[in-house]
Amino acid sequence: MEEWLADNRALWDERVPAHAASRLYDLDGVVAGRDGLRPWEPTDVGPVDGRDLVHLQCHIGTDTVGWARRGARVVGLDVSAAALEVAGDLARRCGLAVEWVCAPVYDAVEALGAGRFDVVYMGIGALGWLPDLERWAGVVRDLLRPGGVLYLYEIHPMWVALGDDGRTLREHAIDAPFQSWDEGDGSYAAPEARFAHNRSWERLHTVGEVLTAVLDAGLAVELYREMAVTPAPAPWLERRDDGLFHFPDGALRFPLSYSLRARRPA
Ligand SMILES: C[S@@+](CC[C@H](N)C(=O)[O-])C[C@H]1O[C@@H](n2cnc3c(N)ncnc32)[C@H](O)[C@@H]1O
Repeated sequence: MEEWLADNRALWDERVPAHAASRLYDLDGVVAGRDGLRPWEPTDVGPVDGRDLVHLQCHIGTDTVGWARRGARVVGLDVSAAALEVAGDLARRCGLAVEWVCAPVYDAVEALGAGRFDVVYMGIGALGWLPDLERWAGVVRDLLRPGGVLYLYEIHPMWVALGDDGRTLREHAIDAPFQSWDEGDGSYAAPEARFAHNRSWERLHTVGEVLTAVLDAGLAVELYREMAVTPAPAPWLERRDDGLFHFPDGALRFPLSYSLRARRPA
């Protein structure tokens, strides 16, 4: 395994227990019926009952089970075996059958089979861990059946680039390198946790880069929408009753997340 991927896997493996116990992921709430998906996602994707859906980089499965609850035949893929163990337990507690596959995204076609899915889904905080979007988009296209769709709901690069004050750039917001970072202790879901594996490899991808990769892979973009809310916490945002982070009243707003739907031609 390449160094960047091994570092990222070690980082995620170690964060899993803290995330599984966190208020943000609220696993007991999911078992009790809380829907991890944001309200617009099922609407954007359309009916999934009886359809084959793969969730790439599914982490501990909170969003994955949302698709299974809607009747999809679901596969969750992640490079972290520790994450999939928690995800598997979550699905069992929810009484849902989900197939879990431990593999890197770039090996997903070999691991899952080409042309097998009606929907490839990816969620918040996924793309930044991948160095090469052209390769990613090729994998997505090859996983899809003709007529199948990619649905991506991601953190907007403006959120990614801003520091803890929500105003100052902390990294390049264009032409960013894929580089190593010291994540330090804590994580978005468990700020107080202490960790040993803090070296990550990540890159900010602009919206233009994402769209170009998707279009160059031969997918037809059907929907692109930016939103002034996000599931990703930041100290300059407030969490509201919908579980999402919003700008405080009176603040100047900018995009915090985006959704994209693109179809493999039939
Ligand atoms: C921020 S989490 C995704 C969060 C998810 N959207 C959620 O809200 O639960 C990122 C996930 O990507 C996985 N991951 C990172 N790089 C990967 C890769 N190259 N292939 C497969 N999974 C990867 C990590 O193991 C981790 O579970």
